[in-house]
Amino acid sequence: MSSTVVPPAQENVLYEKRDGVAYVTVNRPKVLNALNQKTIAELAMVFEEARNDSSVLGVILTGSGPKAFVAGADISEIAKLSGVEGEKFSRSAQAAFDLIENLGKPVIAAVNGYALGGGCEISMACTLRLAAEGAKFGQPEVKLGIIPCFGGTQRLPRLVGKGLALQLILSAQMISAQEAYRIGLVNEVVPAEQLIPRAEAVLKEINGNAPLSIKFAIEAVNKGLETSQADGLVLESSYFAICSATGDKGEGTSAFLEKRAPKFQGR
Ligand code: COA
Repeated sequence: MSSTVVPPAQENVLYEKRDGVAYVTVNRPKVLNALNQKTIAELAMVFEEARNDSSVLGVILTGSGPKAFVAGADISEIAKLSGVEGEKFSRSAQAAFDLIENLGKPVIAAVNGYALGGGCEISMACTLRLAAEGAKFGQPEVKLGIIPCFGGTQRLPRLVGKGLALQLILSAQMISAQEAYRIGLVNEVVPAEQLIPRAEAVLKEINGNAPLSIKFAIEAVNKGLETSQADGLVLESSYFAICSATGDKGEGTSAFLEKRAPKFQGR
């Protein structure tokens, strides 16, 4: 078993690699892991590292401490933003979250507590969301005189539908993990102590499959949701064609026909 902390060490984000999994932990527990600009820049850095490292097959994102995943953008920074700075802040976080959404490998949000505002938003940029039983979700920005600005107005309606998204955003209400599961915001709810083991098991299940198929399936769904169904179908055929030309397609189909387990190479 290999475990490494990748330099340069980040101040607010921990990055560790173990057995093909990168563990990214937002580490500002005194402010419930609130995302200031430095933390967002560090997140972008470690996710780039995870994307570029071919030994990383998937990522688990979580928060430090027992209470919070991420309790939102750092309100003490938001309080001081001008309009121009606000737009820059929003765009840079959106770019970091786009990187997470389109990493080319699965990213599991292991939501261990409050996922509010930017916390809910970063979880929605992840491929899948697992929540601990006590986790709470919400977009409380309108209570602060702002609106979600890290993708919440776009990703929430795509995940739960327009009506529920507007209800959550306009009411600023906090919902339980069970309610988040009921409306399709999270994939699974598990006891807190099983959160990381379950995230690891889900990644293991995914990563037993052909890596390029995983990458192109994620890309087809993400890009398809941004276009018409007709254009999405064309995209799907193109990705299918690319997969059809891979060695892993040869291996996967042969293994099935020969009644053996496949050995995928990512080629
Ligand atoms: N930004 C900056 N600081 C934050 C924060 C945020 N988003 N969320 C929590 N904190 C800080 C608190 O100010 C407090 O700091 P202090 O100890 O110096 O007073 C510390 O984290 C602990 O939070 P506290 O509010 O005392 O914990 P709680 O258990 O009473 O309440 C929450 C937890 C999550 C309900 C509450 O902290 C909260 O509503 N946070 C803001 C959520 C939000 O609006 N997010 C969207 C931001 S755009």
